[in-house]
Amino acid sequence: MTSTWTPSSWRNAEAKHQPSWPDQAGLDQALKQLGDMPPLVFAGEARSLTESLGSVADGDAFLLQAGDCAESFDSSADSIRDKLRVILQMAIVLTYSGGIPVVKVGRIAGQFAKPRSSPTETQGNTELPSFLGQIVNDVGFTEAERRPDPQRLLTAYHRAASTLNLLRAFTRGGYADLSQVSIWNREFVASSPAGERYMQMADEIDRALTFMSAVGVNSQTTPALHEVDFYTSHEALLLSYEEALTRQDSLTGRWYDCSAHMLWIGERTRQLDGAHVKFLQGVGNPLGCKIGPTATPEDVLALCEALNPDRVPGRLTLISRMGAEKVQTGLPPLLAAVRDSGHPVVWACDPMHGNTYTAEGGHKTRHFDKVLEEIGGFFAAHRQEETWAGGIHVELTGDSVTECVGGGDGLDEDALDQAYETMCDPRLNGRQSTDLAFRVADILRDQA
Ligand code: PEP
Ligand code: CO
Repeated sequence: MTSTWTPSSWRNAEAKHQPSWPDQAGLDQALKQLGDMPPLVFAGEARSLTESLGSVADGDAFLLQAGDCAESFDSSADSIRDKLRVILQMAIVLTYSGGIPVVKVGRIAGQFAKPRSSPTETQGNTELPSFLGQIVNDVGFTEAERRPDPQRLLTAYHRAASTLNLLRAFTRGGYADLSQVSIWNREFVASSPAGERYMQMADEIDRALTFMSAVGVNSQTTPALHEVDFYTSHEALLLSYEEALTRQDSLTGRWYDCSAHMLWIGERTRQLDGAHVKFLQGVGNPLGCKIGPTATPEDVLALCEALNPDRVPGRLTLISRMGAEKVQTGLPPLLAAVRDSGHPVVWACDPMHGNTYTAEGGHKTRHFDKVLEEIGGFFAAHRQEETWAGGIHVELTGDSVTECVGGGDGLDEDALDQAYETMCDPRLNGRQSTDLAFRVADILRDQA
């Protein structure tokens, strides 16, 4: 970062995937209003997350980053709670069965903007702007719904605020108490293999808690048993929104993007001279950057230098999303280059975005086995290069959807129609997510 950086410096670079707002005056007014709103997160929280991610970079912890592909403005409190619950369940499985501390980051409370492969969508003879996430337009295929509406920036802010408030209440107010692990299981059908395993693990945790309580350690004496550190993140795609929520920290004088704790750059906007890199260079938050199959070692090293020139452990998470077929050959040269450069990155695996395909019936889907195969390849690549496989990044929901095929219940393509609800990419449902956590925990244990 140069000393001349300001929250609006990105405007001098090319910003890909920005909407064309038809109402410039309305946009300016909405951004002005956003600029007057209170920050959603506090700079100190972002620094705590950097520190926790620093332990991941050092190989002492594991990152679980998970949540929606595109959040909805209509998410109910139950749906938000269930998403949190699934992430916490996965984290417990990884911590207990995998034997490692887990840093928990949601794709939540702000994951509203989407890059799309084409700016327009055609159905029949009608061509309309693509759906760009509810922060811009709506998913329905009518001219009115697809028209970018700047008022949505404000709605997104308020939805993020109320979601974050609920998350803070759940994670601080007792819902996340370790003694609740078996109660969280309510919606699990204990007959599923992952469900049975989960109940068995919950019983073991209950027995351990009873023992600890008998020797004087309980949630009153030890807050860690009662509360959970849970962080928010989203793709920092819509730069005018991110700029409006960027504030100078009064303690350190540094700029922080206070729309979320962690922000990431997507695969389509990681150009070194592009506006997204330019913007995120200047904020103090921990950052992510997606790394797809076309990235060269030189590209990745240049991104490390641009986004983390001071080499702060935990500042930069590289999220590889190669696809199951390419990870084994594509990832090792990147791992080796970063390792040899001495850059202290977290490497996380997004096993979703390289494994999307269209099923016979027309639904976009992902197969659980391919997701698992990419994770397997990711761990194998790290074993080969003697680097730390630091985490996973997945799209999931706590709702009982049928969007991805496979998993413990053996969902097939014919079942996709039953509850296909996503506004963008197919998500793992709660049972597939917990199933995945057990598989990853097995890999983690095997390599310990
Ligand atoms: C996403 O994470 O939803 C996404 C669009 O991913 P990518 O940038 O890796 O394609
Ligand atoms: Co997605």
